Amino acid sequence: MEIIIQPTPAAATQIAARLMVRLIQEKPAAVLGLATGGTMELLYRELVAKKLDWSKLTTFNLDEYVGISPMHPQSYHSFMWEKLFSHANVSIKNVHIPDGLAKDVPAACAHYEQKISAAGGIDLQLLGIGTDGHIGFNEPTSSLASRTRIKTLTPQTRKDNARFFDSQEEVPYHVITMGIGTILESRHCVLLAFGKNKARAIAEAVEGPITAMNPASALQLHRKVTVFLDEDAAAELKMRDYYRWVFEQKPDWQKV
Ligand code: PGA
Repeated sequence: MEIIIQPTPAAATQIAARLMVRLIQEKPAAVLGLATGGTMELLYRELVAKKLDWSKLTTFNLDEYVGISPMHPQSYHSFMWEKLFSHANVSIKNVHIPDGLAKDVPAACAHYEQKISAAGGIDLQLLGIGTDGHIGFNEPTSSLASRTRIKTLTPQTRKDNARFFDSQEEVPYHVITMGIGTILESRHCVLLAFGKNKARAIAEAVEGPITAMNPASALQLHRKVTVFLDEDAAAELKMRDYYRWVFEQKPDWQKV
């Protein structure tokens, strides 16, 4: 794993955006795995400002709430259109977000997996992390081999996400999420985490044992992971000075 620690979320986000720009320039028909949540807002703002050509890109979002309409202001469909897609020349047929109103959820999940495969797999998967270590909505004890499926949110995640809804009661209990196995098949995983409330989950994911109790720790098995942190999110990493040193010593050809 490459751990990039920056003084602020803005500084870390700028480097992450450069990494994405490079991929999009090198591979205009790349397949992007996209994420939602507060952490991604800054990144999407940066990407929109760069006025990239999204017309050939294909996107797959990680997850969606079950039981709320795509038009609901807190659906991840709404989030994506509001923060990114409405401001980019995406081709609607290439945009994929799990259907939270699917009548047959297992069939819809299997179909989602098929579409990812048919697109040639995901080149770069963006990830946030929950305070409990979830990636996508793979909550602790999710199978590390899991595929796209329905999950039940933990009370903690419903509490964390209540800030986006009018009240905690409105936060759905169920979600459809790509599995950890699905995420691990992407060719590059890029995780962003900012703020003190992520410090423990990050330390466990990066330096702890691989365990379903911290689903992000499964990323240790992936051959190409880049983790962008601000100082607060990096605060509990034992080897943070080493990660900074590695970043400073990067050969020119490796720099983003
Ligand atoms: P956040 O969510 O970016 O809103 O903190 C991250 C996540 O739960 O994956």
